[in-house]
This record gives sequence, structure tokens and C-alpha cells, in this order.
Amino acid sequence: MITIKFIQPDGSEKLVSAMNGRSLMEAAQGAGVVGIVAECGGSAACATCHVVLPQEVFDRLGAPEEHEEDMLDFADAPRQTCSRLSCQVRVTPDMDGIIVRVPTA
Ligand code: FES
Repeated sequence: MITIKFIQPDGSEKLVSAMNGRSLMEAAQGAGVVGIVAECGGSAACATCHVVLPQEVFDRLGAPEEHEEDMLDFADAPRQTCSRLSCQVRVTPDMDGIIVRVPTA
């Protein structure tokens, strides 16, 4: 299992055990992380799964696809440099121990 720490919108922390290959959104939802609504179920069409990744993880993943780029502009919380839609990010073993922030609107 890969452990990821989520900082929820109120500043509280939640440790999440995530399976390799699942989306970050699925891992967060399964653990009840506050602020990950995922209205569209993971098809990059709602932006209610917006998270901010650590810079090094963001860089390693490469640029989001154009559709995700567009959707991030519709997220409730203002977009940040390392913003991603968590449904479009796959959990990998090198993410063990990272800290992911759920931004406040
Ligand atoms: S779950 Fe809707 S955009 Fe990610």
C-alpha cells in the first residue's frame, strides 16, 4: 500500500492508503477526504476533485491534457501552479509519503 497524506480544506490531515494504479480521487473518496466530491465520477468533467500536488510530483507527471487544463479553470478553488484533477492522476509507488492539499474555495 502507498500512504498519502491529504490536507483537507479546514487544515486537518487525513492519511490515506492507496492502491498502485488507482486514481488519486478514488483513493481520497474511499477514505472520505473532505472536499473531494468527484461529481462526474472521474471523467474530468466537473473539477470537484481539484488537488494541489507537491512540486516534484507535479513535475514528474508532466503536463495535464488539454481537457484537464480547461476544466481546472472551472474549479471552485482558484487554480494554483501545481493544481491537478485528482481523477486524472494515477497513484504510483513513488508517491508513498507525499502530501496532497485540497484547496479551499
Ligand atoms: S471527478 Fe470530475 S473532474 Fe475529477
